[in-house]
Amino acid sequence: MPGTENKTVSLNAAKAARNDEFYTQWAYIEREMNAYKEYDPNVFRDKVILLPCDDPEWSNFAKFFALHFVDFGLKKLIATSYAPDSNPAGKYYAPTLFETEDPKFDETKTHANGKKFELNPTDISGDGVVNIDDLQWEYLLGNGDFRSQEVTALRDEADIVITNPPFSLIRPFVAWLADGEKQFSIIGPDSVITYVDIFPLIKQNRMWKGATANSTDMVFGVPKGVPVREPDQLKAAKLGYPSDDDYDFTRLGNACWFTNIDHGRRHEPLQLMTMDDNVKFSKHKDVRGVGYRRYYNFNGAIEIPWVDAIPSDYDGIMGVPITFLDSYDPDQFEIVESADDMEAMRLLGVDPLGKDWVKAYKAGGGTGGISAGHRRLGLTEPRYYTAYKRILIRHRKSS
Ligand SMILES: C[S@@+](CC[C@H](N)C(=O)[O-])C[C@H]1O[C@@H](n2cnc3c(N)ncnc32)[C@H](O)[C@@H]1O
Repeated sequence: MPGTENKTVSLNAAKAARNDEFYTQWAYIEREMNAYKEYDPNVFRDKVILLPCDDPEWSNFAKFFALHFVDFGLKKLIATSYAPDSNPAGKYYAPTLFETEDPKFDETKTHANGKKFELNPTDISGDGVVNIDDLQWEYLLGNGDFRSQEVTALRDEADIVITNPPFSLIRPFVAWLADGEKQFSIIGPDSVITYVDIFPLIKQNRMWKGATANSTDMVFGVPKGVPVREPDQLKAAKLGYPSDDDYDFTRLGNACWFTNIDHGRRHEPLQLMTMDDNVKFSKHKDVRGVGYRRYYNFNGAIEIPWVDAIPSDYDGIMGVPITFLDSYDPDQFEIVESADDMEAMRLLGVDPLGKDWVKAYKAGGGTGGISAGHRRLGLTEPRYYTAYKRILIRHRKSS
């Protein structure tokens, strides 16, 4: 039914447009960047920073780095914006006075082209400081898509790429970053962790979680007119962001930072109890007095239902919740695989859950997860059930 298909496509496009037009709040940027600076005070010194997907007229990223241009010791700040005509949310766009009053203003380009903004250590405005007033801008040749040749050339010129990219393009965005082999710090949905094309970066310690805003709501500004769910709006207001004249606010429970810039959080080993002590003292009733379960289809590996129940003295492979990555210290643990990657699991000798297992699971009232390729790890005690999303890890050395 082509009609239905079109409807689905346009619904998806509308949803993507909504989720892509989320503006990052200053406090989140400040906290995360400060964590990098705390770990290395010179992290931004003499660096060229690129903010793709960022119009400084709207974006706190550009304002933040312009404000700190001198004290961070930046060499250059570049921001690019995306053409409103190319953006499903572009109907909300109107050029500001900053642009319309500039001799460079071009009525056709303002809708069809992206823009490039640059801040160099030169006090152009002559007010004695280098700040956002010294920003130079021009239209890009194209629409400012991060994958375009001209924005990719800016990526190659940059030392660090920082932004909150459109969530609907998070996959190609991360691939674009990895391809550039630059330092980066971005906001994205935490579900990307287990994507088969992104997980290898996590496993190889080429990308990790940021230092802040993990396992908590993040509030985002949305342009007036973009629909926001009322409960989210209320929650954002409760978190200190009531609607104002310029924006409504929403919150996401699954947004977090991803980076390859080092920070102190990932060098704080988890303080863990031994297996015996967990069985005696764990605060979790599925561990205390019960012990650790083994997977039906993965010999030697054990199921760890809670990050704080990881035993300090188990040498084999452990399946842990994906929130483990919030406190992952690469000196303490090695990441073996994502249990979602069936190909990698097969290489580890894991059999997909067999027919008998599925039968017993269904007979026990189990639902979901199984038919989709029998990907997950199975448990049999006290009944047949599937483990939640798991990352497989191993201690680097016995602690
Ligand atoms: C989630 S918003 C974040 C905006 C800003 N970085 C911030 O954090 O406040 C993502 C932005 O990416 C832009 N965008 C969408 N598709 C893009 C593309 N293909 N290339 C570059 N930018 C894009 C949109 O205009 C949107 O403003």
